Parts: sequence; structure tokens; C-alpha cells
Amino acid sequence: MGQHLSVVSMNDTPTNLQDHEKLAQAALGEAAWAYFSGGAADEITLQNNTRAWQDMGLAPRVLQDLKGGHTQVQLLGRPWPTPLLVAPMTHQRWAHADGEAGMALAAAAQGCGMVLSHQTSTPLQTVAELVRGEAERGPLWFQLYWQADHGALRALVAQIEAAGYEAIVLTVDAPVQGVRDRERRLGPSLPLPEHVRAVHWQAQPPRDSSGLCAGHANAAPTWDDVARLQSWTRLPVLLKGVTHPLDAAQAVRLNLSGLIVSNHGGRTLDTQPASAQLLPPVVDAVQGDAAVLLDGGIRRGTDVFKALALGADAVLVGRPCLHGLAHAGARGAAHVLRLLRDELEMAMTLCGCRTPQDITLAHLHWPSRS
Ligand SMILES: Cc1cc2nc3c(=O)[nH]c(=O)nc-3n(C[C@H](O)[C@H](O)[C@H](O)COP(=O)(O)O)c2cc1C
Repeated sequence: MGQHLSVVSMNDTPTNLQDHEKLAQAALGEAAWAYFSGGAADEITLQNNTRAWQDMGLAPRVLQDLKGGHTQVQLLGRPWPTPLLVAPMTHQRWAHADGEAGMALAAAAQGCGMVLSHQTSTPLQTVAELVRGEAERGPLWFQLYWQADHGALRALVAQIEAAGYEAIVLTVDAPVQGVRDRERRLGPSLPLPEHVRAVHWQAQPPRDSSGLCAGHANAAPTWDDVARLQSWTRLPVLLKGVTHPLDAAQAVRLNLSGLIVSNHGGRTLDTQPASAQLLPPVVDAVQGDAAVLLDGGIRRGTDVFKALALGADAVLVGRPCLHGLAHAGARGAAHVLRLLRDELEMAMTLCGCRTPQDITLAHLHWPSRS
């Protein structure tokens, strides 16, 4: 997070997300830190993600009427208090005993949404029961990876629906894990503590070891599988990890409800551009026919503002939420989201935007356009 000013104060109250990151590093063991913070290979994409937001200038408008302003947005046909969601992230009980339950409570308390990972270490029903009734919460979605055992996957979809999740997010950019050097140095398998396991994850059946990536790629999802998933559920389906405009256009043809423009936080294919750069062509391809969300490198309220200016309907925040959780449980995650929310309101006010709908490309200052 290079250029942000960060000084953790005497009483250790974090002032910004970089302070939270430092406190998380101090709280986590070496292995957990490597797992939660690492990216793929040389971590070029990981760095691109944060740098792109920092390099993008703002173009504030002055003397606008800001009375009655708010941060509400419409997503999948419903109004929500903020354009912020916690990104799906594995094994949160490894970061802190509060785990996914604490993360969901934190998100709900701040009017933010939560996407629960398929590799959650807390049962999906527990998480949903905790927040379903919260009037001021954001959306509650479930993220799936495609799995070879369709019967088990379909049964999981039924559980997701019954528990009250409002959408399914199919992650399509990680048919195999990236080359994560920091993690590979830890050894052949992740040194998860005994109390942490992915409670809804099906052990994979023995694979045919021929083909790409020693057979792993044989089980990679295709567009047919996307249609199959749609036929199993009445819930809206979004795809996470779409970055190519041609894929975005195909998703619209299949009536997908939304896309999440993401390079998986730089954890899969290194040297992809920043998600900030990947967003505009996808927005153009979708032409308003599906929701478009983004994640990657969001560390400031101004980053959220810029993503909305580029056409995102909302953003997901990954590692910073884990950092808050890691050193202070649900309270820490809530503080991270509160900081982002407050900073977004500040950015909107200073740029002359009363609501997120007022934020446009004209509020960005592009060196190439000036
Ligand atoms: C520790 C960790 C675990 C993750 N687990 C998942 C996952 O289970 N499913 C998924 O779709 N994305 C997963 N992601 C990617 C995030 O959802 C998100 O795309 C990324 O973290 C956004 O970038 P940011 O961390 O810079 O905000 C994970 C990311 C991290 C850091």
C-alpha cells in the first residue's frame, strides 16, 4: 500500500486501512500472514491494483447542492445503504476466532454487504441466521466454485437458497490456484490449524491425471456449466472474475444478473492489469444490462468513488476486512468498513456529489484527457 501515510497511534487506534494492515501482520503468525496477504508470482497484479487507484486523479465540482445526500445504491433491483461488500475470502477463522460470523456482523453493522466464500470455515446457515433480520444490512450473497460432483453442488445450492442468501456468485477465474510463491514456501499443503476447515467443500473425486495442470483443468467450468447453475436456482447468478469484454458480452447473452470485475486480488494470473483498468471495457460491453461490480486494491474511500465513477455499481473489499478481523475480530472488520464509508462520504462531498448516482467519469482527471 506504498504511498499511504500511516502512523499507528500511541493507543493503537488505526487511523486508516494501512494501520489495520500493520496491526494484522503483528497479530498473525507467519504462515497465516503469507496466505492472507500474498499474491501470485511476482505480485505485479497485486501491486497494480492499489497503484492504479492512487495514480487516478479526481476532478471535484464545487458549489453543488448537497442537501439530503446519501450513499444508497440499487443492486439487483433492491436499494442498499452503501455500495460496499466484503469480498469472499476463505478460512476466516484462521484470521480470528470470530471468523465469518464476525465478518458478517461487522458488515451488517456498517450497512455493507457480505459474500460468503464457498471455502467458509463457518456453516452458511450460521452466518445467514446472524444477519438475515438486520434491517440496515447490505446484501448477503454466496460465492461458489464449480465442483466435479454436480449432485453435491446442487444440494449446496438448495441449502444456500433455504438459508436466505440473495444471490449466487460463481467465481470463474480460478480453475486452478495461481502460482503463489509466498504460500508455496510454506510447504506442500496449507498449514491450517485443526479447528479451521472449509465446512462446505467437497473432497474432489480422483482425477484423470492427464491434460493441463495434471488433470485439474478437466474439471474447469464452461459456459454450459454456468447455464446449468442458472437452471438449478431461482436466485440471481453473478460471475466473479470476468475481465474480458467478450466474456462480459457472453454473460449478458446468458442473462446473468451481474459481473464482478476482478483479478482475484492478484492471487491467480500475475501480470494482469489492475482491475481499475479492466473495468471500463466491461462496463461498455454490458451497457447496463447487468450489474457490474469490481474488486481489487480498494484501500480508500476515494478508491470506491473512482470505481463508481468508472461505472461500477458497487465494490467488494478483500484483504483490508481480513486485516481488521485478524487483529480485533468483528470490531476490527467493522472499523475498516466504517473508515471506508466515512471516507467515501467525504470524497462525495468534496467532489460535489450528493448521491452515488451523481458520480460520473467527469469526476475523474485522466492525464491522457487533460
Ligand atoms: C485470503 C484470500 C482468500 C480469498 N478467497 C477467495 C474465495 O474463496 N473465493 C473467491 O472468489 N475469491 C477469493 N479471494 C479473492 C477476493 O474475493 C477478492 O477478489 C480480492 O481479495 C480483492 O482484492 P483486495 O484483497 O485487494 O481487496 C480471496 C482473497 C484473499 C486475499
